Amino acid sequence: MLERYGHGGDLRTAEECFGLPSSSFLDFSSNMNPLGPPDAVRETLARYAVYIDRYPDPVSRKLSAMLSERHGVEESAILIGNGAAELIDLVVRGLRPRTAAVAVPCFSEYGDAIRKTEAALYEGRLHEADHYRLEKRWVEKALEQTDANLYMLGSPNNPTGALVEPDLVKDLLAHGAAVVVDEAFMDFVPEEESYSLAHEASQTHNLFVIRSMTKFYSIPGIRLGYMLGHPEKIAELRRLQVPWSVNSLAQSIGEAVLADEAFVQNSMRWLQEERPWLMDQLEALGFHVYSSKTNYLLLRLPNDCSLTSTELQGMLGLKGVLIRDGSRFPGLDERHIRIAVKLREQNERLIAALKACIWEQGGITGDGI
Ligand SMILES: Cc1ncc(COP(=O)(O)O)c(C=O)c1O
Repeated sequence: MLERYGHGGDLRTAEECFGLPSSSFLDFSSNMNPLGPPDAVRETLARYAVYIDRYPDPVSRKLSAMLSERHGVEESAILIGNGAAELIDLVVRGLRPRTAAVAVPCFSEYGDAIRKTEAALYEGRLHEADHYRLEKRWVEKALEQTDANLYMLGSPNNPTGALVEPDLVKDLLAHGAAVVVDEAFMDFVPEEESYSLAHEASQTHNLFVIRSMTKFYSIPGIRLGYMLGHPEKIAELRRLQVPWSVNSLAQSIGEAVLADEAFVQNSMRWLQEERPWLMDQLEALGFHVYSSKTNYLLLRLPNDCSLTSTELQGMLGLKGVLIRDGSRFPGLDERHIRIAVKLREQNERLIAALKACIWEQGGITGDGI
């Protein structure tokens, strides 16, 4: 099983499952920006040897200053971490909720972090009829059915790609709950200004926003993310963080990529062109494509395709193409898969591989093939 350790992008497991060298896979199972990493990363690596015999800055001052300018918040409202994953774990440990609520399907680490504590976990289902978007009725039901004092929401949500309306978060805050909004993929969203709660978080005691730098800049091996919150709360969480959790290479790379404006423009242009093209191709094959605001797509298999998502993942894996099996997400089933949006030539190879799988199982006779 590709998601043996809970995530996509696990090339060592892919090697074991499909018997191909890890370098040969076309990986649509993790959602990295295919334009990255920016050139500045290679330059930073070339210079890095001189820093290795020193401890990193324990509070990532230069990177914090750059992020404070980017988001228009005080540096004291920012906590840098060893990937968004560290901060998800840290914020749950720090807030020590009685009951924590998530909207499934969502990123598995929210539930994992909550299960490591004493807290009860409420998993409220998003509905296919709402295209798996978080709607007001979800919020009303959660407030009615649970005494949750922490909500963890993804915006854009993984695996659906849907944004959360800021007003819904404000409703939860008004009821006194703490809300953590995971904006790991927000950098890909052109409407970021209307949807990101980064600035509000810096002024609100019970709101926390988590951002990842690993997806947009395609540096998942480096581990870099940050949290925005009220300075008093950030100070409390900082005390719980492992010292020097953000190494000096991660700090230097973060500083270098944040200075690269052209990379941001090129990435936005690529996604605005490539996502609609890929959606059209998939729809022509009979897939239902859920609306996504970011760089991955949740799909439902064509009605006349008799494969399950696990079978399709296995067939594609043997052809060297990796996708996420939707049935591994609570709240989805074996009719769902998730794929990343990549470069045109890579997307074409995905489409060809999907066509071949559907053809081999003989389920579709329609125009798509
Ligand atoms: C929604 C979401 N949040 C957070 C993370 C963790 O990101 P990072 O690599 O910064 O730890 C992931 C990684 O897949 C993710 O999908």
